[in-house]
Amino acid sequence: MKTADNVEQIRDIVRFWRKEGLTIGFVPTMGYLHEGHQSLIRRAASENDRIVVSVFVNKMQFGPAEDFASYPRDFQRDCEKCQEAGADLVFHPTDEEMYQPDFSSFVDMTGLTEGLCGRSRPIHFRGVCTVVTKLFHIVSPDRAYFGQKDAQQLAVITRMARDLNMGIEIVGCPIVREADGLAKSSRNTYLNEEERKAALILSRSLTEARQKIEAGERSVSVIETYIKERIAEEKLARLDYASVVSWPDLKEKEVIDGPVLTAIAVYIGKTRLIDNFIISEV
Ligand code: PAJ
Repeated sequence: MKTADNVEQIRDIVRFWRKEGLTIGFVPTMGYLHEGHQSLIRRAASENDRIVVSVFVNKMQFGPAEDFASYPRDFQRDCEKCQEAGADLVFHPTDEEMYQPDFSSFVDMTGLTEGLCGRSRPIHFRGVCTVVTKLFHIVSPDRAYFGQKDAQQLAVITRMARDLNMGIEIVGCPIVREADGLAKSSRNTYLNEEERKAALILSRSLTEARQKIEAGERSVSVIETYIKERIAEEKLARLDYASVVSWPDLKEKEVIDGPVLTAIAVYIGKTRLIDNFIISEV
């Protein structure tokens, strides 16, 4: 496995692979890799000849009061995890390599980015769309892999690739969880022992909500209220949002009569965690 920190090195290697007629799969990440990220790399490795992973904590997608500075970083460990999962090349640029001092071009999206996480993180998806577009231009993959863990991000990137004719297939992959149900996340490392236990309220309330829908409940407000009340019972938890919206166009609904995403964001202490489930048929 190779690593490179500059754009031209990546382009040279990818150009060489393309000449050989090889297909390229790409997994963008912010590092501190866990089995969730590795599942994307493994899936990519099963569907492409060569796999590129990027590890870049993208300042542009963090709000001023968010955790950019404290976001966990360990590049050595990330390389081991990439190799183990089948990556061929890891792109690990510096901030300066990605953003020149007079950088001034952005990729923005209306609609899909405005609800759910976009409401409490207003500049987040502009940062995500901009960096992912840059990474797509640098790596020029055939396919790119994103986790359903960040369901709104998956919907946004799929729409962006379509709207802007990027010619890259966006592949969504299932959420990988800890044995007790907590969705794996680099941010779980922020939780102390007590918070780690409290964090189970996310997956628990979602599992119960899913059971209600599967048992025939069709009212969005009943499901949203149920989740809110369950989360209010956990002292260390503070709800950001709990929403049932259509999938994948993320529109508000009153009745569950087609594919829906049920998504929540919850602060456990100071740590903001997200989780969701998608029901594709009712
Ligand atoms: P990051 O949070 O590192 O996540 C990278 C990818 O791993 C995303 O597609 C995310 O959905 C996926 N992922 C994270 N946890 C997962 C889990 N438990 N199960 C399955 N997939 C999981 O998302 C980002 O980075 C950034 O916004 C990025 C797209 C790299 C742009 O900076």
